[in-house]
Amino acid sequence: MAEATGKAEKIRVLIVDDIPETRENLRKLLFFEPDIEVVGAATSGEESITLAGQLKPDVVLMDINMPGIDGITATEMITQQMPSVQVIMMSVQGETDYLRRSMQAGAREFLIKPFTSEDLVAAIRRVHQLGLTRRPKIPFEQVPSASSPTGRDGTGAAMGRILTVFSPKGGTGCSTLAINLAVALAQQKQGSKVALVDASLQFGDVAVLLNLQVTRSIVDLVPHIDELDGEMLETALVAHGSGVKALLAPPRPELADQVSPSLIEKALSILRNLMSYVVVDTSSIISDITLTTLDIADRIVLVTTPDIPSIKDAKLFFEVADALEYPANKTILILNKSDPHSGIRAEDIQASIKHPIAAQLPLDERTATLAANHGVPYVLGNTRTTKLAQTTMMLAQYIINVFAEKEEAAVAVPAKLGTGRLSL
Ligand SMILES: Nc1ncnc2c1ncn2[C@@H]1O[C@H](COP(=O)(O)OP(=O)(O)OP(=O)(O)O)[C@@H](O)[C@H]1O
Ligand SMILES: [Mg+2]
Repeated sequence: MAEATGKAEKIRVLIVDDIPETRENLRKLLFFEPDIEVVGAATSGEESITLAGQLKPDVVLMDINMPGIDGITATEMITQQMPSVQVIMMSVQGETDYLRRSMQAGAREFLIKPFTSEDLVAAIRRVHQLGLTRRPKIPFEQVPSASSPTGRDGTGAAMGRILTVFSPKGGTGCSTLAINLAVALAQQKQGSKVALVDASLQFGDVAVLLNLQVTRSIVDLVPHIDELDGEMLETALVAHGSGVKALLAPPRPELADQVSPSLIEKALSILRNLMSYVVVDTSSIISDITLTTLDIADRIVLVTTPDIPSIKDAKLFFEVADALEYPANKTILILNKSDPHSGIRAEDIQASIKHPIAAQLPLDERTATLAANHGVPYVLGNTRTTKLAQTTMMLAQYIINVFAEKEEAAVAVPAKLGTGRLSL
């Protein structure tokens, strides 16, 4: 963990803001932190690019609105030239578009002013830690060969990405996250095709959460498993207004037994070729069905909540994942129902589970319940401006970036997009 300079392990921070008082306040907020050192302050986007090159900070605190080169453009230039630099964007605006553009530019976090010194310090430590854990990593081995996730090459090669959303503990918000992520992925990346598979076969909630009639379901495919192809599979999908196509769970629990792990595997393999992203919702039991969806996934989105039973189960999951020889970066850890009053800090959860938290989605029962009761994902409609919706959209962008990075690494072209992470 030693810095390249060989000095003590302080996190070197560059402040970028055109307002002198803000620069001074940020310095003061960080002054007493033993592990953080402000190495410089830039007064403009232009100067930040020069200073970042000279000072090689670990973390840049970047204001978004500045005359001349704004924070987003400066971030883009800095992260392209120095991918190891972690940028935290600061803005008074919480607009989705700003958030999205910042993440696309390569920012790791987005802090909305005014924020507390605890928020700031925690964000700096988290992005720094994430940078350290990311840096030595080689591209993820199980990701299929490089190809455009939006197109087809006609060779039948694997193309789309499978994202299995799982929680070893029930009720953590797995299904809620799965449906919102699917819709956010469809919205965030133009032209992308997104499928949502309900692999919680007995009591799947995808249909109710999206207000879809179960006119077709995965059980319709059972008699056709041997001759299953893309065309046949498409006929079993139910379209949602957002553009997401759902492969729903059987309409009654007793039908679930008819669906075999090999049918799930076949269906997911075919969907991978048809779609850009395939989001899979699971039940919390590690059955053969769930294991199949975890094995085949390019990434597992592991959902935990800030309570001891859920954290204990997440830890156990990582033991299982180790035993299954999943690489550490196969799993994206999400803290859902994040609550400053829970008495458990995200840092402590990370330390206990020994895996970085990629995103914290706030506890917002009102939004989650309203969305569920109306059958409208919270990333759509009036609720899309809530913090919960915004962080979920940023998570979707983070996932897009992770996969984009993979492709770029595989085809050896310079990275265009940084990989974001978020925590509001
Ligand atoms: N961020 C959130 N804040 C508050 N409540 C939430 C949040 N996310 C989900 N919920 C609520 O948590 C409950 C469980 O959500 P959900 O059904 O998505 O969880 P699950 O993990 O899929 O559960 P199950 O184990 O039953 O499949 C629901 O009432 C949902 O509205
Ligand atoms: Mg569920």
